[in-house]
Amino acid sequence: MAKEKTTFTCTECGGTSPRWLGKCPSCGAWNTLIEQVAEAAPGKNRLSAPQGYAGLANVQPVLPLAAIEAQDVARTPSGIDELDRVLGGGIVEGGVVLIGGDPGIGKSTLLLQAMDALQRAGLPTLYVTGEESGAQVALRSRRLGIDGSQVQLLAEIQLEKILATVEVTQPAVVVIDSIQTTYSDQLTSAPGSVAQVRECAAHLTRMAKGTGIAVILVGHVTKEGALAGPRVLEHMVDTVLYFEGDTHSQFRLVRAIKNRFGAVNEIGVFAMTEKGLKGVSNPSAIFLSQHSEPVPGSCVMVTLEGTRPLLVEIQALVDTGGPSPRRLSVGLDKDRLAMLLAVLHRHAGVACMDQDVFVNAVGGVRISEPAADLAVMLAITSSLRGKALPRGFLAFGEVGLAGEVRPAPRGQERLKEAAKLGFSVAVVPKANAPKKPIEGLTIHAVERVDEAMDVVRGM
Ligand code: TYD
Ligand code: MG
Repeated sequence: MAKEKTTFTCTECGGTSPRWLGKCPSCGAWNTLIEQVAEAAPGKNRLSAPQGYAGLANVQPVLPLAAIEAQDVARTPSGIDELDRVLGGGIVEGGVVLIGGDPGIGKSTLLLQAMDALQRAGLPTLYVTGEESGAQVALRSRRLGIDGSQVQLLAEIQLEKILATVEVTQPAVVVIDSIQTTYSDQLTSAPGSVAQVRECAAHLTRMAKGTGIAVILVGHVTKEGALAGPRVLEHMVDTVLYFEGDTHSQFRLVRAIKNRFGAVNEIGVFAMTEKGLKGVSNPSAIFLSQHSEPVPGSCVMVTLEGTRPLLVEIQALVDTGGPSPRRLSVGLDKDRLAMLLAVLHRHAGVACMDQDVFVNAVGGVRISEPAADLAVMLAITSSLRGKALPRGFLAFGEVGLAGEVRPAPRGQERLKEAAKLGFSVAVVPKANAPKKPIEGLTIHAVERVDEAMDVVRGM
């Protein structure tokens, strides 16, 4: 028997190489290549067809785009408003959703609640659990107060059995909890390996597209924050949702990273309660911590996540460091922090070279937009001087390497939300200054970082 051909696949990016290498040729990660049986090439003449391709396969008709009727996708709202918001309106027929997050953050809870709501709305649902027994899921449903639920349950991890059951029971929505525990007996590698996860997801996606059954895959997130192993899953599915938040706090964010059927970067906000996840319809103030008196090192900013502004407190601690001072950030980009410290030194004359600098976005939110820059800088200087910013103060704006303060998108909306929550002083980029004054809000428009520092110093 001819030796089976193997390839080496990267567990980080899914890139392949014919040989083992220490470093992945696609993404440059070290020690991530694992061996796999190569898929047999289907038929000969796959790549070269000397007699022409038309002899190999039937010619398919083509149509001009204008002749194809554009249909709106049919969506079924899940009945959980915050989830529907990130899904772009609801569950789409034949759509595949990947929902990722840390263990214990509430993925199974949310999906069980959503399945129950869909089942009650008359949609047949199937919940496939590979991580918990049927009894454990039943226990959870009791806790959620949905113990009379008609959601069909299947405790199974073998893909072929799952597919066969789906074919016979014909549900409208299937949840696979989780894709990492599912395995196909076509492959010898262990469940959770890249090959298995990719193979299973591919089969389930094909099934979804072929039958119109919506599939929701639960994926675990590794310590590094990537969906375990296969980033490849993100390309296969229609929608990628990410659970964020601190498991110690009550609030959870569900963020849409990719959505073929809706807007990205939309977020849904939930609170974990005794009886499951409850949507928070007015989330703007939930990430503010309660200080009875203003404290040094704290600055509030308004971030725009999706369509709703959120007020988030940025905290900084600057403290005497050792010979190689530390720069640590939670919820904010670390490289960006290093850059801001350099700008602060060069353009505002504030030096933190010999200091440890810690920065944190309160409540476990992750802020990726550069509009946080100004608030980060003001929190750092406030901590360094040991002087609190005034009560009701907020700031936002992107800071450039030349020390300029650039506008943030939709500045008016941010300011209005802050005013609504009782904020009274704001330092904002000049281009974001409102033409008409906003009641109750004193606005200082700045063009440069040093200007912002001067404004604050005079307060
Ligand atoms: P779970 O949905 O099992 O997380 P995941 O599937 O993402 O791993 O969530 C489990 C956590 O949620 C657990 O720590 C207990 C908590 N929880 C509540 O606080 N209230 C509830 O009603 C439920 C069902 C769980
Ligand atoms: Mg779970």
